[in-house]
Amino acid sequence: MKAIETKQLRKSYGKTEIVKGISLTVEQGEIFGFLGRNGAGKSTFINMLTGIIHPTSGSFSLLGMEGGDNMAKKYIGVMPDYANLYGSLTAMAHLKYFSALSGKPAAKAVCMEVLQQVGLDEHYNKKTAKFSFGMKKKLGIAQAIIHDPELVFLDEPTSGLDAESVLHIQRLIRDLQKRGKTIFMTSHNLNEVEKLCTRIAILKEGRIVQSGSMDELRAAFRSTINVNIKHSPIPASQQESLHQWLEEAGSNLELNDGEITITVESEQKISEMIRAFQQCRVEIYRVHVKEPSLEDIFLEL
Ligand SMILES: Nc1ncnc2c1ncn2[C@@H]1O[C@H](COP(=O)(O)OP(=O)(O)O)[C@@H](O)[C@H]1O
Ligand SMILES: [Mg+2]
Repeated sequence: MKAIETKQLRKSYGKTEIVKGISLTVEQGEIFGFLGRNGAGKSTFINMLTGIIHPTSGSFSLLGMEGGDNMAKKYIGVMPDYANLYGSLTAMAHLKYFSALSGKPAAKAVCMEVLQQVGLDEHYNKKTAKFSFGMKKKLGIAQAIIHDPELVFLDEPTSGLDAESVLHIQRLIRDLQKRGKTIFMTSHNLNEVEKLCTRIAILKEGRIVQSGSMDELRAAFRSTINVNIKHSPIPASQQESLHQWLEEAGSNLELNDGEITITVESEQKISEMIRAFQQCRVEIYRVHVKEPSLEDIFLEL
């Protein structure tokens, strides 16, 4: 049974299509990261899965159950991108209320335990009107997990939090996974998904432009290596043949005095290139190799 399966899920507002046909699968026990810039459509996508909005077309299932109005809320926890709180209720009252709504009312001791997990136990009796942004966010997470759901949706769980709270929440997410839960989270923070997630999908303008495990993504982009070589003057008699060789060896070739920059597709090409230089009696002073960081990958996409 898959935790999440979507087929060609789409959402339009008027004539504007925001989510453009997303099909993805999330296995149980994964921390799946949905990565994209602001406005990419992350919240719109997650809100369809959690029943906050209706898809324009397409279908999905959660934990093997057809998604839609009669979704089994008992097994699903949701932290939307807005704080869904009543200012006159205390943190404790919120958890009692939302656990009851999910069909699994939690005892006070359980609420306390979850408040402690998110780092709010000292504020259990405080009304949420007095909560800071970060505290509201933490209560949103507590509310999402209070009924011990199997599948948890977290929309930007750490954005806007201070560094210590971010680490705290990341640890909590990992602990959930250790207990066998599935987490689907959105983030615009690459480092975060790199650290936490088993698999990620990168969303751009409503489409998935890349997905896979972190290693798969790296491998896909390792195929381009930027090389800069500083060298002694190329003998005039060798210039043409060397230039021709370089043209064929890679792309984005730039030739300057005593320096070339080129993009190649494998490490082997680098050693071939060094050999080609040597055969033309050109001395190599320095080789600088730059592989794309994940930040580069993200920006490029
Ligand atoms: N209810 C709505 N009506 C019209 N446009 C919307 C609505 N909700 C979101 N959008 C638009 O959809 C795009 C994606 O928004 P959103 O899913 O919130 O992105 P993200 O969560 O990735 O930052 C944005 O351009 C936003 O303005
Ligand atoms: Mg969002």
